[in-house]
Amino acid sequence: METLKVEVWRGGAEGAYQSFEVPRRESQTVLDVVTHIQRFMDATLAYRFACRVGMCGSCAMTVNGVPRWTCRTHVDKVAGDGRLRLGPLAHMPVVRDLVADMREFFDKWGRARGQFAPTRTRSEDFARVDPATPERREADAAIECIGCGVCYAACDVVGWNPAYLGPAALNRAWTLQNDVRDGARAARLDAVSGDAGCHSCHTQMSCTEFCPKQLSPTRSISGLKRETLWSMLYGKAVKP
Ligand code: SF4
Ligand code: SF4
Ligand code: FES
Repeated sequence: METLKVEVWRGGAEGAYQSFEVPRRESQTVLDVVTHIQRFMDATLAYRFACRVGMCGSCAMTVNGVPRWTCRTHVDKVAGDGRLRLGPLAHMPVVRDLVADMREFFDKWGRARGQFAPTRTRSEDFARVDPATPERREADAAIECIGCGVCYAACDVVGWNPAYLGPAALNRAWTLQNDVRDGARAARLDAVSGDAGCHSCHTQMSCTEFCPKQLSPTRSISGLKRETLWSMLYGKAVKP
């Protein structure tokens, strides 16, 4: 039987790679490989997943040096030579084995004011947003984020400057800046324009290159940079 040679990170910040030999199968995903190890070779292996269909964002890991969602990454695509080296996502503390601690990642969404701020009460009618408006199109382009952390792990600036809000939180902020129903756009722009905000992005596009949903946080961050400039020039948070 054909096998894969798999090295898996074991431990926390301190640890080592452990080797396994896993049967190779047709249409096998990297998550299938990890699951095989956990079910049949070492039940103590810690990893995280939920949906297995690319929706929940919980299965991301470092695969042969690159951050990827693992439930939709086929072994054939990333391990042509039959070798896999798997670790937790970069730029986050390691809980154990393949599980990264995403608390700071999501706390940054809060710091970037990544929550919708409603302006209507529940007794008012639904707001109607025309899908053809430029704002709605901007929001659509960034809204499909699943919070997987791949972009954050790919971003060098997060590595150099742990305070940097990072591509996912800024992408979320840009989505909300384009939501005409939202009431916190001026405050959000303040939140994302400080030292740890959008102006720290070097536009190297690693986030965009690796985002499994083919989003472009780089583009969203450029939008925030533009909007902060407009705000400085015209004294308002939204486009003149
Ligand atoms: S474009 Fe900006 S946010 Fe994206 S990886 Fe590069 S520095 Fe990070
Ligand atoms: S922007 Fe893309 S890579 Fe980043 S968290 Fe969202 S889905 Fe994942
Ligand atoms: S398990 Fe949900 S995105 Fe991979």
